[in-house]
Amino acid sequence: MRKKIVAGNWKMNMTKTEALALIDELKPLVASDEVDVVFCVPAIDIIPAVEAVKGTNIEIGAENMYFEESGAYTGEISPNMLVDAGVKYVIIGHSERREYFAETDETVNKKVLKAFEHGITPIICCGESLTQREQGITIDWIRQQIKIAFLNVTADQAKKAVIAYEPIWAIGTGKTATSDQAEEVCGAIRECIKEIYDDATAEEIRIQYGGSVNAGNAAELFAKPDIDGGLVGGASLKPDFGKIVNYK
Ligand code: 13P
Repeated sequence: MRKKIVAGNWKMNMTKTEALALIDELKPLVASDEVDVVFCVPAIDIIPAVEAVKGTNIEIGAENMYFEESGAYTGEISPNMLVDAGVKYVIIGHSERREYFAETDETVNKKVLKAFEHGITPIICCGESLTQREQGITIDWIRQQIKIAFLNVTADQAKKAVIAYEPIWAIGTGKTATSDQAEEVCGAIRECIKEIYDDATAEEIRIQYGGSVNAGNAAELFAKPDIDGGLVGGASLKPDFGKIVNYK
């Protein structure tokens, strides 16, 4: 039985002061034994956030990471820096990074491999645009993203990975995929993992849905057999996040 995982993606929001206040506010609301809870926060908030969640069920994640160990890469954050700071998860290949920062399936793959090498769990994002959905190529597109993201990843590593299916047209738009649409794609992702690896890996890997998840739609989405939780943007910055974590 897969444990659900609900992660907040704070994106480029929250100064250190705001972050600490939000963590204080959310701490009691997101307490849960049944769900893994992750706050993926801006790089500058990571160290104070790790300190602030000590003794709680909250893990801190990063929103990005570079695939080199160290060196002349101005502005980037290395896997070792994240590990040393106490980070357990890292979002890789969010559609905003692909769109605004030119990330490709190939750089996503390099980052995924690096994250595993350092014992950080990658939350690997995939998702189609509205045009791709309208053209009926959603599943083909997602399969391609998944196959490249998992190149040279072993089955044992893949079992620990988290995949976030985030249709781009549903991000920040208030337009959620229906639970059937989300389940169709999450099911296809699990099938693709089964093809690459085996039944056991497909059974173990956790697949989240992301895109306008809120307190009102989380229960229906998370009840679907192939949806193991959510990657939440806007609603992760509000007390509503507690309702999403405790969706039952
Ligand atoms: P919203 O929940 O704001 O639509 O954002 C989703 C997302 O991009 C999470 O990574």
